[in-house]
Amino acid sequence: MKNFISIDDISDFNSLIDESISIKKNPFKYSHLGEKKAIGLIFFNKSLRTRLSMQKAAEMIGLKCFVMNFNNEGWNLEFENNAIMSTDKAEHIKEAAMVLSQYCDIIAIRKFPDLQNKDEDESEKILNSFIKYAEVPIINLESSIAHPLQALADAITIREHKKNVKPKIVLSWAPHPNPLPHAVANSFVKMVKRIDAEFVITNPVGYNLNSKITDGVTVTHDQNQAFKNADFIYAKNWSSYDKYGQVITKDKNWMIDNDLMSKTNDAYFMHCLPVRRNFVVADDVLDSGKSIVIKQAQNRIYSSLVVLKRILENEK
Ligand code: CP
Repeated sequence: MKNFISIDDISDFNSLIDESISIKKNPFKYSHLGEKKAIGLIFFNKSLRTRLSMQKAAEMIGLKCFVMNFNNEGWNLEFENNAIMSTDKAEHIKEAAMVLSQYCDIIAIRKFPDLQNKDEDESEKILNSFIKYAEVPIINLESSIAHPLQALADAITIREHKKNVKPKIVLSWAPHPNPLPHAVANSFVKMVKRIDAEFVITNPVGYNLNSKITDGVTVTHDQNQAFKNADFIYAKNWSSYDKYGQVITKDKNWMIDNDLMSKTNDAYFMHCLPVRRNFVVADDVLDSGKSIVIKQAQNRIYSSLVVLKRILENEK
């Protein structure tokens, strides 16, 4: 593996899940791979899980880890070629990416979308500029359109909990007070397409995800119908994709509660976290024995670890 930007960068998805579960049993087995090497974690946005799980995974594989909150601590970056840099932008991405490559053997980046302009967000300017100018592998810690380390952790969690060969997995939109990105949902869809599952997405009218990503997946606006016989409910909010970045409903009927969960096949409840209690999901569901959100968060360590292993092995 050269870079890890998308679920599409994994050619052997099911064997990678096997490998993750195997590594989980002996997480320091590959601590020699990162010896005398460093990873730089560059954050343009907040994080709890991504930041600490990647730091923990880096330590397990022997990497030194630098973390930089770029908005507060880095120079304002210029991205335009031939720019006359007379404004507040003090450093060009070309130098920034090449300099970071002198200090780090892997660079990992988190940059959320601004949700103002679809084309601009989908161009993934910051992530793609690092891919273009850096001299080392790049890992996506959540970009405008993808959060592959989360989806990989979710795949590990589903594999560990599934009771039948082809479980029914439902991705359900849930309300949220603020406009949220599509990255988690997009990568979850791409991931479920790679595993053996019956897959249904349910969301209100006006909230269909990018049809290029959901192509071939059943999408329904009837949440009650979607939940019938489900083995896994994955709740997530996203803003409208068609009316880009807008919140067009906060309908509380879409909140995941025990009434909705009772329609399932005693399903597990999943969410990437952070989650707003009693707005996205009711306390009763989140605190129940069927909630596996903490297992998902734990598996963020092992999705990071397996990706670092694959990249370091490729670099040898
Ligand atoms: N799920 C996730 O990415 O969490 P953080 O935003 O806290 O990193």
